[in-house]
Amino acid sequence: MSANRAVPKLCVQGLDLYYGDFQALINVSLEITERRITALIGPSGCGKSTLLRTFNRMNDLIVGCKVVGDVELDGRSIYAPNRNVDDLRKRIGMVFQRPNPFPLSVYENVAYGARIHGLAAGAALDAIVEQSLAAVDLWSGLKDRLDDNALTLSGEQQQRLCIARVLAVEPDVLLMDEPCSALDPVATMRVEELMQELVDRYTIVIVTHNMQQAARVSQDTGFMLLGELVEIGPTNQVFTSPRDQRTEDYVSGRFG
Ligand SMILES: Nc1ncnc2c1ncn2[C@@H]1O[C@H](COP(=O)(O)OP(=O)(O)O)[C@@H](O)[C@H]1O
Ligand SMILES: [Mg+2]
Repeated sequence: MSANRAVPKLCVQGLDLYYGDFQALINVSLEITERRITALIGPSGCGKSTLLRTFNRMNDLIVGCKVVGDVELDGRSIYAPNRNVDDLRKRIGMVFQRPNPFPLSVYENVAYGARIHGLAAGAALDAIVEQSLAAVDLWSGLKDRLDDNALTLSGEQQQRLCIARVLAVEPDVLLMDEPCSALDPVATMRVEELMQELVDRYTIVIVTHNMQQAARVSQDTGFMLLGELVEIGPTNQVFTSPRDQRTEDYVSGRFG
């Protein structure tokens, strides 16, 4: 391997996923590069969220869901029978469409993962909470409100808090499933800026049905249709000179 060739953080190989008899992912293969933002786009129902969930085995929680093929994190299978799923979900954190803070204080939300993984307590935990809130630009605004219930925060603050909660356990990968869909345009822009700051340290995969958002935030884009990954490549190339006619039709707005 040459020195300038990026090592894939995640490597998906021949992935098929079934919900009962319905096949939601069809022979998906791709590589996600470290410390880049990869966007997954495509019309509603094409399998974006399903694919994202396979990266930290959230699909394990769905009854009747079956996976064939493999996903590797840093070259190691995440579907291996002996894989520790708690550890996997610590390394690959997820942020959802609707901010879902726990009905606990700001502090307890951020400390939650670090506590259950036994990472820290006392002053060390205080430091993790401060760093994590600072990383999402909430510290200066909330440092005097750490005991407030998280549900009293604005939607944008709640989504940032959920990102801080994930960062607190020091993951490698941040999965974001339409993280701005419940936010107004200004909050969306600010969360997109935050992603640009975080990508210096994390590998980010974002699902979005918003093509403009993918074009703004990502370095790589994958286009999905009916359970297939039609193509993936540098965002600029996928939007301006796609290899597949179906991608061309989608990015030029012919359907969606
Ligand atoms: N838990 C589930 N059980 C059965 N079918 C599902 C489930 N989740 C998603 N699907 C189906 O799988 C397909 C892909 O869904 P999804 O991954 O949510 O698409 P997207 O995120 O691109 O909108 C859709 O046809 C959807 O109805
Ligand atoms: Mg979805």
